[in-house]
Amino acid sequence: MTNEPRTIVITGATRGLGRAMTRGFVEQGQTVIGCGRSADAVDSLRAEFGASHRFDTLDVADDAAVAAWAADVLSAYGPPDLLLNNAALVNRNAPLWEVPVDEFSDVIDVNIKGVTNVIRHFTPAMIERGEGVIVNFSSGWGRSTSADVAPYCATKWAIEGLTQALAQDLPPGLAAVPLNPGIINTDMLQSCFGSSAASFPDAEEWAKLAVPFLL
Ligand SMILES: NC(=O)c1ccc[n+]([C@@H]2O[C@H](COP(=O)([O-])OP(=O)(O)OC[C@H]3O[C@@H](n4cnc5c(N)ncnc54)[C@H](OP(=O)(O)O)[C@@H]3O)[C@@H](O)[C@H]2O)c1
Repeated sequence: MTNEPRTIVITGATRGLGRAMTRGFVEQGQTVIGCGRSADAVDSLRAEFGASHRFDTLDVADDAAVAAWAADVLSAYGPPDLLLNNAALVNRNAPLWEVPVDEFSDVIDVNIKGVTNVIRHFTPAMIERGEGVIVNFSSGWGRSTSADVAPYCATKWAIEGLTQALAQDLPPGLAAVPLNPGIINTDMLQSCFGSSAASFPDAEEWAKLAVPFLL
């Protein structure tokens, strides 16, 4: 693990793994720039972590908003050392033919297009600097499947392919990696697993391993 301070961009910092990673990175002396859609949660991130970090309300599915956010962040902090594409949605458990059109679109728009929007607007500056790592959050369901989560599986299988091809696009000095974080008791897991989510580790416990691993 390096002791050099890092600038880390985390999408979906407002809850779950993103919030726990934010806390873990801040405790390690890193600078965190995070986003999420919930304005209340963004306010609470600002209150908890203070002015040397930055948290904004942002929907990663909105390409124009991501472009503006990235331009602001890059001018204030420079290119990130680590770009963590963590924000994602899961569909409500249902067989594929029962998933409403809008819900299917939302999962695609956030989990695939949102990740791509963030990559589109941060990667050129990272390439210009000549270093940096992009981590796209995948899933066990990016490498296997289950009933009732077909839209989510489709997006995480997409993340595996998208990320491996992106890694081939990148010049020396940069890397892109799909990361399956494991099974962690968050809002997302509770949506999929119901009450049995409680038998899995919580995000804070997960972050104790994940933060040093990512650094
Ligand atoms: N938990 C697990 O067991 C597990 C397993 C495998 C993979 N993963 C992956 O790990 C990552 C984190 O999952 P999690 O369990 O922490 O999920 P979570 O508890 O549902 O949190 C998701 C985060 O993403 C944000 N988000 C959702 N849509 C967004 C959007 N359009 N724009 C910006 N932010 C958005 C949410 O904040 P707002 O609601 O404020 O926008 C929230 O901060 C995801 O990529 C997930 O697929 C999790």
